[in-house]
Amino acid sequence: MLASDRKLPVSGGPEKRAYVREMFTAIAPTYDRLNRIISLRLDQRWRRYGVQRLGWERAPEGMYLDLCAGTLDFGATLARQPGFQGRVVGADFVQRMLRLGRGKSPRLAPVNADALSLPFSDRTFDGAMVGWGVRNLMDLDAGLREAARVLKPGARLVILEMTLPPNPRLRRVYQFYFRRILPWIGRVISKHTTAYTWLPESTQAFPGPDELQRRMEREGFSDVSYQLLLGGVTALHVGTRA
Ligand SMILES: C[S@@+](CC[C@H](N)C(=O)[O-])C[C@H]1O[C@@H](n2cnc3c(N)ncnc32)[C@H](O)[C@@H]1O
Repeated sequence: MLASDRKLPVSGGPEKRAYVREMFTAIAPTYDRLNRIISLRLDQRWRRYGVQRLGWERAPEGMYLDLCAGTLDFGATLARQPGFQGRVVGADFVQRMLRLGRGKSPRLAPVNADALSLPFSDRTFDGAMVGWGVRNLMDLDAGLREAARVLKPGARLVILEMTLPPNPRLRRVYQFYFRRILPWIGRVISKHTTAYTWLPESTQAFPGPDELQRRMEREGFSDVSYQLLLGGVTALHVGTRA
């Protein structure tokens, strides 16, 4: 069996956790470059948009959490906002990803931590963001609950995540890119056989935006809403810690 034919553990559990850790450790050096290429540089624009929805202006000196922070691009986007005087903690369980974020902003502090058991007290943060991270958790609900635990009441959680365009024609065109072209580009540049097959497969297995909204509501968030970006290739969810 080819490594690329391997059945990927998209549905959850410890096997998923182990796969995700191994995979991000392996692809860390090419992660930022590939993000720019496969998203046609839209990833940074979407992070800026996510930061705009965080409501950080209400507490510009506050503490913010970038969850599943990877190379800290989402946290750095907040940390570099003119007028922002607070701190951003970037939590990820892959040290190699965090190391590549060093130097992106002096207001950023990387922390090696699992999103399902964060080393922070209840009600620590004034806001939190997750960029393309929740799809990778072995237990989505536990991750949302943990985010709610560490947020102050009234604080916002912003989630950017992959999804599929609802329009059938657009979805067909996108699926061709997503399932055929993108994995090929990813394999050539990262040299990892499955990481960029994981992306479409884990997106397919992940709840759609309506269900993610319901699950955020169930795990402690109110006023949850979402919007689809670029015809629905990415969704931006925003909720308030009840
Ligand atoms: C697709 S990357 C996203 C990185 C970054 N947020 C961004 O905007 O580019 C997903 C990240 O989630 C991290 N991750 C996945 N599961 C995690 C967990 N349970 N705890 C902490 N980090 C996790 C991975 O290590 C990886 O760095």
